[in-house]
Amino acid sequence: MPKAELHMHVEGSLEPELMFALAARNGMTVPFPDVESLRRAYVFNNLQEFLDVYHAGTLVLRVEQDFHDMAWAYLQRAAADNVLHAEIFFDTQTHTGHGLSAEVVINGLHRACIDAQSKLGISAALILCFLRHLSEAQAFEALEQALPLRDKLVGVGLASSEQGHPPEKFARVFARARALGFRLVAHAGEEGPPAYIWSALDVLKVERIDHGVQAMRDRNLVERLIKSRVPLTVCPLSNLKLRVFPTLARHNLGAMLEVGLAATVNSDDPAYFGGYINENFTQTFAALGLSAQHAYQLAHNSFAASFIDVSARRALQDRLAEVFETFE
Ligand code: HPA
Ligand code: ZN
Repeated sequence: MPKAELHMHVEGSLEPELMFALAARNGMTVPFPDVESLRRAYVFNNLQEFLDVYHAGTLVLRVEQDFHDMAWAYLQRAAADNVLHAEIFFDTQTHTGHGLSAEVVINGLHRACIDAQSKLGISAALILCFLRHLSEAQAFEALEQALPLRDKLVGVGLASSEQGHPPEKFARVFARARALGFRLVAHAGEEGPPAYIWSALDVLKVERIDHGVQAMRDRNLVERLIKSRVPLTVCPLSNLKLRVFPTLARHNLGAMLEVGLAATVNSDDPAYFGGYINENFTQTFAALGLSAQHAYQLAHNSFAASFIDVSARRALQDRLAEVFETFE
């Protein structure tokens, strides 16, 4: 099924094999004896435990080619899953914290996006995420450093440790990004309360909510999200691995679709959570007993929620409709 992927962190697509290869190329070592033992360490009780491991993995990224190769590996996997358009999250603050420039990060990722168009025939766009556990001043600094590369970015987002870091902490940064013409998204309601989704909408004025699964606890919020057609980029295997839901059978994706929320399915950090986008679809559909109509709805929502221009979006939605006509 053709689809768009709108919620994945490129640093979270760094597979152990590539991590070891980049470490060797950069004269570094990974603090695990081999790929298998590293993969066995990917067991998490919550978001923070994951973020600590994820951050350690980014240490092998040192030069522009590393960022290109990581994004290129993801884009090939995405194309194999029939992703026709990807909006890729990345952050610069992790890497500038390791002594790299924002330019190295953005140029490497952007080159992979160009390659995706020319070699795979799929489109890709970049969204710079601010790290919410850091300060407002540091987010402003990250925005300023990215401005010379403005043309290589479609939007900004908000990621990292949610609890204790409400969206409103970044009200002024998002206002500035909005004035500069960036599209806006934010993680909210992954582990954090519905109040964080309200403030992402009302204070940050975001166009999509990343995760948003906690919205279902607040009837007024659900009504608001439905009325204003705000998309939610849901990541079922992430929610499972970070214990937001105890099992996939208890996930609320089916309920979200039933009430009319504009949900999409995404992989978040596929190298760490055990599956790329199609694996998220197949495991969740099996666990919840979802139908072909649900699949069509989710893929349709993914194109509708994307930041591609209207004519390109219509062409993609036509391709999706064709596939389902054949399927029926
Ligand atoms: N939530 C918040 N920050 C993140 C995530 C996530 O799921 N993945 C990578 N950074
Ligand atoms: Zn995420």
